[in-house]
Amino acid sequence: MPTVSRRDFARLLAFTAPATLLGRRTPVAPVPPVPPASPDDWSDVRSQFLFPADLTPMNAANLCPAPRPVVESVERWSRALDSDPSPGTREKLPVAREESRRLVAEFLGVTPEEIVITRNTSEANNLVSSGLTLGPDDEVVTFADNHPSALRAWQLKAERMGFRVTVVPQTNPHPGPDHYVEAFRQALTPRTRILAFSHVTNTTGDLLPAAALCALARERGVLSLVDGAQTFGVLAVRPAEMGADFYTGSAHKWLCGPREVGILYVRRDVQDRLAPSIISLYAGRVGASRTLEAFGQRDEPAIAALADAVTFQTRIGRERIEQRARELARALMDGLRALDGVTLWTHSDPTRSAAVVSFQPGSLDVPRLATALYQRDRIVCATRGGQDRPGIRLSPHLYNLASEVERAVDAIGRYLVSGV
Ligand SMILES: Cc1ncc(COP(=O)(O)O)c(C=O)c1O
Repeated sequence: MPTVSRRDFARLLAFTAPATLLGRRTPVAPVPPVPPASPDDWSDVRSQFLFPADLTPMNAANLCPAPRPVVESVERWSRALDSDPSPGTREKLPVAREESRRLVAEFLGVTPEEIVITRNTSEANNLVSSGLTLGPDDEVVTFADNHPSALRAWQLKAERMGFRVTVVPQTNPHPGPDHYVEAFRQALTPRTRILAFSHVTNTTGDLLPAAALCALARERGVLSLVDGAQTFGVLAVRPAEMGADFYTGSAHKWLCGPREVGILYVRRDVQDRLAPSIISLYAGRVGASRTLEAFGQRDEPAIAALADAVTFQTRIGRERIEQRARELARALMDGLRALDGVTLWTHSDPTRSAAVVSFQPGSLDVPRLATALYQRDRIVCATRGGQDRPGIRLSPHLYNLASEVERAVDAIGRYLVSGV
């Protein structure tokens, strides 16, 4: 990891880029006054977020707060549009959209021609399942722990179009990458057209061996769709190196970007396989976006602010962010594992998980525990009901401090003893 001086680090987080696109000088976010005392001190990063010091959002897997540069960018673009809704202002927004696309492409190590800007991962996943031409002779291989947008969506479309869906079962605890490569290999048949899996699952945070699965698909002449909702903005993913044909993600999750903005990467060589499912005006200007991104009127200020979210993370460094999130998750798992009664659903081996941690807190009532954690300890988490791996999901990210992880573990330990 490159060393960054305290002053440089503060400067890295300062933000200026899209101001010039508006054709006038706009206020820039303040440079954080306190540089990090050491590489472990992320308080400067945290200070870029609006939530108060006593609040601990630990639910990145669901929705992340955006840092000041993103919030201010959305506001700046909205003000520009609403105070002067003229053709002159409006014509700047498609330019900003292309700048967002360029930066996302650079961030992911792909080309702008391969990026479609969607509303979210759900839409991106569905653009693939609706856009491929599949019929009774075709099969799709999915994964049991896929999000509904990459499992239920395939199943419903299969009922209509007559193709078959094979679902590879999930196993808990995560049995290791080789297990899943073998399980997917066995599910493939000569009729398989696409293999669709979550890179990291939203249920228990299981990390799937994406590169090996994409290679397996490619070997068999099968397409691969990697749902990156839980990796875009936290793991230093490069979809082209991974070998994915399609990779999807949401800006409002780990990227800490604007809400209702997502991405679909479509590898250049497979673009002719995907027909547009939504046909309207206002397409993108390059590559796949010219056909797949004509969604009609959009929230253009949010799309413009995608550039700022990417810039924010790029300035910190993608590898650093991955390392940090993994360290926090590891500390969380170590702490939870030491508590009597906790069943960890997430495996701590870094080849089997990333930064999503899920566990059952003994016999505690999960919704009551989540309420107590929020109301008394100011910790925001997610819950999972039902009989299948129920419990609490915590997903720490770059805005969390190590002390908050300790506080979360202490609080859960306290409730395990005292009840809620
Ligand atoms: C793996 C996975 N895919 C897709 C989604 C859907 O994301 P969005 O609601 O942003 O479309 C989620 C949301 O949690 C997810 O975890």
